[in-house]
Amino acid sequence: MIITIDGPAGSGKSTISKEVANRLNFKFFDTGAIYRAVTWFILKNNCKDDEEIKKILKNFSFDVQTDPDGNKRYFVNKQDITTEIRKNNINKKVSEIASKGYIREKILTIQRDFSKNQNAIFEGRDMSTVVFPNADIKFFLTANIKVRAKRRFKELHKIDPKISYEEVLNDLKKRDIIDSTRKYSPLKCPKDAISIDTSFLSFDKVVKKILKKIKKIDTPQFFKMKPFYGFILFIVWVIFKTLYRLKVYKSKKIPKGSAIIASNHLSYYDPIAIAASFPEEVYYLAKKSLFKKFFLGSLITKLNALPISQNIPNIYSIKTIIKILKKGKKVILFPEGKRSKDGEIQKIMPGIGYLVYLSKCLIIPTYIHGTQKIWGRNKKFPKLYGKISCVFGSPISPDFEFINKKDFINKITNKLEQSLKNLKKWCDEGFKGVPP
Ligand code: DC
Repeated sequence: MIITIDGPAGSGKSTISKEVANRLNFKFFDTGAIYRAVTWFILKNNCKDDEEIKKILKNFSFDVQTDPDGNKRYFVNKQDITTEIRKNNINKKVSEIASKGYIREKILTIQRDFSKNQNAIFEGRDMSTVVFPNADIKFFLTANIKVRAKRRFKELHKIDPKISYEEVLNDLKKRDIIDSTRKYSPLKCPKDAISIDTSFLSFDKVVKKILKKIKKIDTPQFFKMKPFYGFILFIVWVIFKTLYRLKVYKSKKIPKGSAIIASNHLSYYDPIAIAASFPEEVYYLAKKSLFKKFFLGSLITKLNALPISQNIPNIYSIKTIIKILKKGKKVILFPEGKRSKDGEIQKIMPGIGYLVYLSKCLIIPTYIHGTQKIWGRNKKFPKLYGKISCVFGSPISPDFEFINKKDFINKITNKLEQSLKNLKKWCDEGFKGVPP
């Protein structure tokens, strides 16, 4: 999961991001430190123009380590520059250096490399807009310029007792102008970010506000669903959270629009657990005969069940599924066909490949863990306690090169089988980091 926090200097980004990351047990990246490190390197090498800067940047390597007290130490070509980059000579120069397109491009790669397979908070100026436009949740912190100058003055005064408040205020004003008017990735609050003015809020209040918003994204959006579906799902969600300690893991942000949620199958509980783990409404298949029962039929129709004549999708059900996918909805399918006897991933049926071939929509590989112990194939009734985890893996996109139908179907089913096996392995090894 990637969380971005942008904002101007002195808005409280760094201290707040650090605390939020601590509480969530996430990694934390202060990307301003990378711009400061590059600035330090340029000043050290006395570069006179862009040509000289470009030349020396070829020998620039950056690294971050955490010391035993949990503080970050920054290194350029193995030299510890943690204190150097906070000095006033760097403050005065960094915005100008950060406004150069070729510098931003170099740093973009460094930042994205740091994000691989991480649960992390990235704080900076263009995290939400340029570096991670698909971040799971975006924040923008602001504060009145005088408040920000006071905060910065307090920090800088410890390093340089001669510095005055007026000097800090004027420097901040200058940096604000450069940062927000530069040509390449200027500082701005994107529409999809949550903006928080920290001028008159305590540190604790801001942290709490951010944590509350982050918690919300893992909760299904009940109020955005059809009222009856949302109401029933809320009850199911409460039951699964309390009885079965339902936990959701995601490798990436769930993509918008149509997709097939393709899951392993262990129990009758699987579709319910997946629906309760998913942020939006989902559709699933149910035997046609169930729709003929008076009360049950109308109930499951309201709960987005789609009629099929067998367990394995046939031509009729494929048409039904495609109709729903074309409306931009998501459908849960169990491509192994039957519930697994031993919990292992079974062979994937080619039907799902054919479905993707026709619909060209994404697959979200999903691994459900724990439902077998609670209500496996050998049990008549479910246990009333246990632990269920639902893991959404990296989506599989169908845009393969021009290959024939048979090869396309093979490729999709093999990819899906491998992905489910990888997700299972990730769970079996203790749910560490981000799922594959
Ligand atoms: O957050 P900070 O004051 O340490 O940032 C130093 C400078 O780096 C800031 O003036 C603008 C630049 N910066 C940037 O342009 N983009 C980022 N993502 C982070 C910082």
